[in-house]
Amino acid sequence: MSYAKVLCVGLVGVTGHLVEVEADLAPGLPTVVLSGLPDTALNEARDRVRAAIVNSGQRWPNRRITVNLLPATLPKCGSAFDLAIAAALLAGSGELPLAPLDRVAVLGELGLDGAVRPVRGVLPMVAAAARAGISRVVVPLDNAAEAAVVPGVRVRAVDTLHRLVAFVRDGAPLLEPPSGQPPAACPGPDLADVAGQGFARRALEVAAAGGHHLALLGPPGAGKTMLAERLPSILPELDDAAALEVTALHSIAGLLPPDGRLLRRPPFQAPHHTATIASLVGGGTGLARPGAVSLAHRGVLFLDEAPEYTRGALEALRQPLESGRILLTRSRGGTEYPARVQLVIAANPCPCAKPSGDISCECTPLARRRYLGRLSGPLLDRIDVQVTLNPLTAAELMDAGLTIESSARVAERVGKARAAAAARWAAGGWRINAEVPGPHLRRPPWRLPADDTRTLRRLLDTGTLSARGFDRVIRVAWSIADLDGRDRPDVGDVDEATQLRTGSMA
Ligand SMILES: Nc1ncnc2c1ncn2[C@@H]1O[C@H](COP(=O)(O)OP(=O)(O)OP(=O)(O)O)[C@@H](O)[C@H]1O
Ligand SMILES: [Mg+2]
Ligand SMILES: [Zn+2]
Repeated sequence: MSYAKVLCVGLVGVTGHLVEVEADLAPGLPTVVLSGLPDTALNEARDRVRAAIVNSGQRWPNRRITVNLLPATLPKCGSAFDLAIAAALLAGSGELPLAPLDRVAVLGELGLDGAVRPVRGVLPMVAAAARAGISRVVVPLDNAAEAAVVPGVRVRAVDTLHRLVAFVRDGAPLLEPPSGQPPAACPGPDLADVAGQGFARRALEVAAAGGHHLALLGPPGAGKTMLAERLPSILPELDDAAALEVTALHSIAGLLPPDGRLLRRPPFQAPHHTATIASLVGGGTGLARPGAVSLAHRGVLFLDEAPEYTRGALEALRQPLESGRILLTRSRGGTEYPARVQLVIAANPCPCAKPSGDISCECTPLARRRYLGRLSGPLLDRIDVQVTLNPLTAAELMDAGLTIESSARVAERVGKARAAAAARWAAGGWRINAEVPGPHLRRPPWRLPADDTRTLRRLLDTGTLSARGFDRVIRVAWSIADLDGRDRPDVGDVDEATQLRTGSMA
């Protein structure tokens, strides 16, 4: 035998593609020609594979070796091909029989000592193998739990190249993925902790119901951060497709918890305002790491103290907020990751962070406008729900007692509202009110009666509200109607939506 082929998987964005690793050994000067990989990765893979084979006690074939990764046109990166390359090489040189790895996808990075190291992105790789009709995979032991999440695939794990060799040559058993999953992760913070702030709580619920972006403005200590952190607790669980997508992104980032379970809760990401642009939107060499905006995909991206973010950071978020995806450009083509987030921003109205009306505030009106103005272009314009919190009174804090609603109660209403919206917009392919284009809402049969939008049209005519703002208010009115179980918004819903857009309680 002087030719062998072993299957592996390459990732393009979150999508995996089967890769055939071919090894051909011919008589001649002992060399290794590797093709189908970018230059730098190619050299590193060659060195790792050679050292791992030798240090696993295997014979290195002193022949002219050609290793080829197909399809050649598929961009490949990362180190997950090592194990398949080693297996193909040993099979091609006649050291190993081929049959045991027939129609098995083999994934893993090799250490110089022959250890098999975990790689990022195993979950979407295994899912791709399954889609391509491959039902058996061999993965690094540390990735076995996440691989086992994919239904219909038999997962076996290895910790060393030696273990793979013993299996292929002698039928020695591979390792089983860890079983017995620990109990579900503890729930996050609960809305029952938040006293008062009825208006802001309502805004949070409406935002959750319609998937609207949300701005929480107000003085320090009013509960902006508390409220934002509790948004995921009132959002519905992810459906199967979304859970797989979200878990795949966290797998590619190497951030999956070790218990290997699908992430079912909407994610929450709160990058600090000093975070680098790469950590916000993604990047890095090799397999690009998803940034916060992709790790928050189908969940919440929270920008606390939003005016403190650099202009560059806010600019970088513009594209994903518009398109729901982020294109990471680099020298060799780009990687695209999903990034459909619900944005929540929190801000003090004043750069000194004192409550409005505080006599010790010496900020000029211009300084204040500038401070929030940093947000206006890129961000505030796309935020449907914008509310200002008042400082908490002592009475509110003390009287809260047991009367405060828990997240579970609110989540129930949000779930019903979302189901109503999803059913209504199913024909258009939208799931939540925030996704419905403005013109669609202004046309029959969804257009609201003139009587119900009278106030709103006056705001538009006097220039208080932009056309875009008009559409946003209508969209929020639908979410309010959905929450309160009405078929369509009435004039009261439009009025409430107007308040939720223009700031504070009237
Ligand atoms: N509505 C509230 N109910 C209960 N506790 C609250 C409330 N608001 C604030 N607190 C208390 O004050 C602390 C600070 O609240 P939080 O961080 O949410 O305020 P903030 O509005 O984000 O302030 P800052 O502008 O300084 O970031 C909380 O940890 C909590 O202990
Ligand atoms: Mg805060
Ligand atoms: Zn000030």
